[in-house]
Amino acid sequence: MIRSLLYVPGNTPKFLEKAAARGADAIIIDLEDAVPEAGKTAAREALATWVPRCAEGGAQVFVRVNMGERLVEDALAATRAGADALYLPKVSSAGLLEDLDRRLAVIETDRDPIGFVPLIEDPEGLFEARAIARGPRVIALSAGGEDLATAMGAKPTPEVLRMPKLMIHYAAKAAGVMSFGLFRSTADFSDTAAIRAAALEARDFGFDGASCIHPAVVPVLNEAFAPTEAEIDWARRVVAANAAEAAAGRGAFTLDGRFIDAPIVTRAERLLARCPQD
Ligand code: COA
Ligand code: MG
Repeated sequence: MIRSLLYVPGNTPKFLEKAAARGADAIIIDLEDAVPEAGKTAAREALATWVPRCAEGGAQVFVRVNMGERLVEDALAATRAGADALYLPKVSSAGLLEDLDRRLAVIETDRDPIGFVPLIEDPEGLFEARAIARGPRVIALSAGGEDLATAMGAKPTPEVLRMPKLMIHYAAKAAGVMSFGLFRSTADFSDTAAIRAAALEARDFGFDGASCIHPAVVPVLNEAFAPTEAEIDWARRVVAANAAEAAAGRGAFTLDGRFIDAPIVTRAERLLARCPQD
């Protein structure tokens, strides 16, 4: 379960040292937009130190690489450092994933294949989202709201971003991979109530988790994207009632006065599958 992903600039030891203790399900070490050009090579070289350090608390470690001429070296360094997945910005075609897949396979002799999380950040990528989601190694999709708005000549308002974010989300779900995001930015990390409301809304739409740029947001995302006690209780009762009804030859029944049939039972089962204790 990946409910929260904390971005940490790859050139800030001060942040990286304590990143593992922030409670995020995944840490994204950023080599791209948060790192100035002059610091990018040193940040890549430092992955060998920081990827294992960030993994110490049990979080998954992802690395956001640069596109263009830095891509392959960044990706190789992240793979060698033991990262779980690459965050790939500005992906606009599945072909890029296929090329990278081949380049990485050659060096993955002593590790599992590193995963891909394509970030869709322009209109071309938006219309290729279904093919991208089905590309090699893809474990999740996400939209880059700020870059997407910029690429469209638009402003990154929630209304502007809602439709493209949903299209990318549906492409992820159609391919059976995770979907990360909110309909608002988490850049204003002090507005906890607004972030919680946005995370609950995203969860209702089936988003699995969301990224953030400040550790204060991590517990808010972890709580909002996890099933509540009441939901777990409901799901347990649905599954138990379904077993009894099915034994009596019934696929549809009522529980607490509400109609239950197959898709609702499946939803309850999936909710329980998201709980580690179950
Ligand atoms: N990851 C890990 N730790 C972080 C962090 C981050 N992204 N942002 C802040 N912290 C730490 C600080 O080091 C500080 O730790 P301490 O209390 O143990 O000393 C604590 O969290 C509080 O930090 P605060 O003073 O509130 O923030 P700041 O002013 O130092 O930094 C930002 C604010 C926005 C500059 C910073 O959060 C940041 O660089 N975020 C990441 C940006 C990024 O990755 N962008 C690219 C993706 S869109
Ligand atoms: Mg960007």
